[in-house]
Amino acid sequence: MSSLLETKIAARQHALREQGLLRQRKVLSVDHALNTNASTSSPRFVFEGRAYVNFSSNDYLGLSRVPQLAEALHLGAQTYGVGSGASPLVTGYSDAHLALERELCALTGHEAALLFCSGFSANTALMKTLFDQHDIVVADKLVHASIIDGLQDSGAQLKRFLHNSLESAERLLARHQTSALITESVFSMDGDCAPIAELSALCRQHHAWFIVDDAHGFAVLDGYNNADAAKLIDVQVVTFGKALGCQGAAVLGSQALIDFLVSNAREYIYSTALSPANAALALAATQYSTAHPELQQKLLENIKLFKRLCREANVPLLGSDTAIQPLIIGDARQTLQVAEELRAAGIWVGAIRPPTVPVGSARLRITLTAAHAAEDIATCVAQLAQVLSRVGVPLVTERQAADNHR
Ligand SMILES: Cc1ncc(COP(=O)(O)O)c(C=O)c1O
Repeated sequence: MSSLLETKIAARQHALREQGLLRQRKVLSVDHALNTNASTSSPRFVFEGRAYVNFSSNDYLGLSRVPQLAEALHLGAQTYGVGSGASPLVTGYSDAHLALERELCALTGHEAALLFCSGFSANTALMKTLFDQHDIVVADKLVHASIIDGLQDSGAQLKRFLHNSLESAERLLARHQTSALITESVFSMDGDCAPIAELSALCRQHHAWFIVDDAHGFAVLDGYNNADAAKLIDVQVVTFGKALGCQGAAVLGSQALIDFLVSNAREYIYSTALSPANAALALAATQYSTAHPELQQKLLENIKLFKRLCREANVPLLGSDTAIQPLIIGDARQTLQVAEELRAAGIWVGAIRPPTVPVGSARLRITLTAAHAAEDIATCVAQLAQVLSRVGVPLVTERQAADNHR
């Protein structure tokens, strides 16, 4: 007879498989043919002996393969060792961490910063530590799982406003005495941007803190993302695993907030610190992205090219202007089928299914980077149009396409 847990696991996995929602890892390896010219050709990897162009990474500027950054990591490891050896409050906090914190503060105008090993732990630590059962917190309907998990752990009362709706947010702020409003700068699954300036003004009016998860905006999005960011945003969470191409995250805010987190955030206190080599790498990547604005320009050109080709081929995009370009299919199985058929053509895109996105809105999540070559983007769109019509996903009429792309 199987144990209770074995029975539960088998039943849950069976149900997920039946719904087309089972998640499985894929072992990817390096495309050695590419390495001779690593930083100037489209990102690729090998899976089961075959090479694919990668349209599903968050390495928006292509920094993960920049040779100078590999050297920065190497030098960091030679200088400090390969690991931090302890949690930050023991002996895991070094001048490499401090230098990165100072650079991030200089870039954003915040007073102080605190480093974490991932954006997930930064968000959960922030939410769990900052809020308790006495707080009412207002958050966009689509904020990331790490924010929701942290808020649930905190015991705060959570009120959700309609995605990117100022009216809905204002209604909640007017109705409840709110401690903070939380949103993302660029939404990870929809690719659209929050109205940062307007939400900030609402928060000021209602004396609520404005917290922004900037995972997908930092180092790529203009507007608020400069030394004046702190004037609009009270707490900004930036991650190093997306546009900076490396790993880790920081919470940026007032000195009082950071001191409070240092003394109380369990994820910070009871966990081995980000390695100094990774801190040195993230510092080098931050400086590299600032020194190479042409990468952001190239990313914008690639986004525009992709959108134009999709419009011409009547491929129904969601209307995002960022590197994240979703294509809603709806049905989870059909989404997987489209992704698999694209793979047969050497194109790898993300197939995103519930619970990551709401039921009925399974989608392809196509991400563009500065490193994609124009011909690979053209091949991706051509294959996309072919596969969608073969699988029976309706293409848009030209009129709808024009609406979608306004
Ligand atoms: C909006 C958002 N916030 C936070 C995270 C977590 O960041 P990390 O990947 O560094 O854990 C992610 C990444 O998946 C994200 O998309």
